[in-house]
Amino acid sequence: MKNQLIKLAVVGVGDWGKNLARNYHQITDCELKYICDLDQNKLERLQLQLPGTAINTNFNELLADHELDAIVIATTAPTHYELAKAALRAGKHVYVEKPFVLKIPLAKELIQLAEQQDRRLMVGHLLEYHPVVNRLKALIDSKELGEIYYIYNQRLNLGRVRGDENALWSFAPHDISTILYLLGKEPTDITARGQSYLQNNIEDVVFLSLNFNDRAMAHIHVSWLDPHKIRKVTIVGSKKMAVFDDMESSEKLRIYDKSANQNTKYDTFAEYITLRFGDITIPHLKVDEPFRLECQHFLECIRENKRPRSDGYDGLRVVKILDAAQKSLKANGAPIAIEQSFNSLEV
Ligand SMILES: NC(=O)c1ccc[n+]([C@@H]2O[C@H](COP(=O)([O-])OP(=O)(O)OC[C@H]3O[C@@H](n4cnc5c(N)ncnc54)[C@H](O)[C@@H]3O)[C@@H](O)[C@H]2O)c1
Repeated sequence: MKNQLIKLAVVGVGDWGKNLARNYHQITDCELKYICDLDQNKLERLQLQLPGTAINTNFNELLADHELDAIVIATTAPTHYELAKAALRAGKHVYVEKPFVLKIPLAKELIQLAEQQDRRLMVGHLLEYHPVVNRLKALIDSKELGEIYYIYNQRLNLGRVRGDENALWSFAPHDISTILYLLGKEPTDITARGQSYLQNNIEDVVFLSLNFNDRAMAHIHVSWLDPHKIRKVTIVGSKKMAVFDDMESSEKLRIYDKSANQNTKYDTFAEYITLRFGDITIPHLKVDEPFRLECQHFLECIRENKRPRSDGYDGLRVVKILDAAQKSLKANGAPIAIEQSFNSLEV
């Protein structure tokens, strides 16, 4: 596919999908051939901003277009599986928004189908394309932060309340994918507590804890019922600590040269642990739009026949944790074991 103009369609142009459509329309080395939605009015309104793009309310007509290389799915979560399966069967490369699918076997089936069809399958784990997350990964991999003790993520808002998924499935895919990407490992077990205040059985707030086989821990707090708008990742390492605040417009990353060290020679308990308060560094980062980087990555993977960073296996790892978290929620926070299967389907 090298040097060929990739032709694609965006299916589902609601609150999020319209951003994907606008992005692909602006990228010059691809052609947004169609936008597709069940809602004709949405399509007509969006088409005014996307000259040259056709509108279609019938997904099956897209599948029959042999010129179309790829389909970007940004419909509501329960529809992802059927649409992705049909698109892969029709020989299209597929991008699916998070949450990838709602059940583990469905994730495995799509991975297998993509492999059989030799098509790229990518999941919309946007934060894996965020320049700050990639800097954090470099800091962790180079051991600059030391041993990672724990990470906690907050994704809070007084925001859109969904009726077809809870705050866990709506928000936590971003946090789970970021933590797995940063640490490069899966948790051994998780626990989740949450509560449904606004609707029956749809949790508005969830506290999720992940334990790893070393001493590392991660904690995720998601809510659409909170007075603060917070998008924050805090990492505590044995040598340094780091905070990524995505609500900051420019200085999004701070590295704290702070730690607590155990001394080998000491007479009193007070001498046993020394607290170190060093400088705070704010690295200068060119924060390219993660959204644009993610779209470009999908196109690059199609063009160069590369495995996407957030491929189907990445989607499966996140769905496994969401599924376990849902079980833990229903069991009042009981721990649920996670089978380790980093890049395999043996779950
Ligand atoms: N990556 C992110 O940061 C991010 C942010 C918000 C939403 N999302 C994800 O994007 C997806 C869409 O979310 P949203 O907020 O835009 O939802 P939405 O309800 O605003 O839009 C969904 C659209 O899909 C259309 N649709 C549903 N079934 C369809 C079908 N079979 N064929 C064609 N169109 C169909 C609906 O008509 C609607 O316009 C969800 O998976 C959501 O989790 C991702």
